[in-house]
Amino acid sequence: MESIASAPGKIILFGEHAVVYNQPAIAAAVDKRAVVSVKKSENNYTTLKSYDLGFEAILNTKEKSYELVSGKPGIIRYILEAFFNAHDHSPVDILLSLAFPVGSGLGSSAAVTVATLAALYGYHNKKFTKKTLAHNAYIVEKKVQGMASPLDTLISTNAGLIYLNRDKKVSRFKVDLKPTFVIGYTSKKRSTQKMVKKVSELRKRNPIVVDSIIQTMGLLTEEAKNAILKMDNDKIAQLLNINQGLLDSIGVNTVELSRMVFRARKYGASGAKITGAGGGGSMIAFCPNRSGEVYHSLKNRDNGLKVNISNEGIILKTRV
Ligand code: PMV
Repeated sequence: MESIASAPGKIILFGEHAVVYNQPAIAAAVDKRAVVSVKKSENNYTTLKSYDLGFEAILNTKEKSYELVSGKPGIIRYILEAFFNAHDHSPVDILLSLAFPVGSGLGSSAAVTVATLAALYGYHNKKFTKKTLAHNAYIVEKKVQGMASPLDTLISTNAGLIYLNRDKKVSRFKVDLKPTFVIGYTSKKRSTQKMVKKVSELRKRNPIVVDSIIQTMGLLTEEAKNAILKMDNDKIAQLLNINQGLLDSIGVNTVELSRMVFRARKYGASGAKITGAGGGGSMIAFCPNRSGEVYHSLKNRDNGLKVNISNEGIILKTRV
């Protein structure tokens, strides 16, 4: 029996960093997914292979350890933790595909964790709801990282375009944001925790100024909510650009991100900004008309990915 589950990655459109200070945020699942397949092994040990990430390993799921066979390991700790929580430790072969980069603020760890847990529930014929899946995936992320936001696993499980209000309540937009986004990502790994700390230190030294920027980010996200509801693409683009300026002002921009933002705008993006924690990672370009040109302009110099917002959350299939 083979159990195959897939779950999407995410982008933050508005409100990163401000959300840490209880301001609202808008985020969305994208049509780039993590796919995890689990099937009974012919051997008496468990293997994990990923052609996309270029590695192969033998796992000891009972002890949460692994031996590398080839390549450089990626994202294994999340898989081991998920297996530790939801598997009986019988030998299986695991295949992982990932259509977007790891560690770039696109929710790879959440997507891989959600897909791994769902594949295991399918393999063991265990019933689950989206609510328990998102929660259990959050617990796995928290265990591995020490600290996690429940938003990534929630979006990866349920998908869609989401508004997180000041009380951390999530609601789904009923309208679709149709235009394509282009993601530009740097190969520079960054730590979300470090970037959050950097902003908090800046705020400590400049409380009045930084607090007013954070509040402005909150107002901007509320305006963006209205613009999305009205499907006003020009306004959405303007707000994305303003948000970029605010993110720059709190010190999370980098030369590479800035270069991609300006390049995307030059080649036709109407709005472009950092997505997620910054300091490396990714930027998004809103391209209602010229996504092709923007994609090529980013890909030629850095790394580009065309995405659309997706309403497809967790998908699980089993076959005998
Ligand atoms: O880059 P990501 O996906 O780790 O996003 C971080 C978003 C922050 O607002 C900076 C932190 C958070 O936990 O919300």
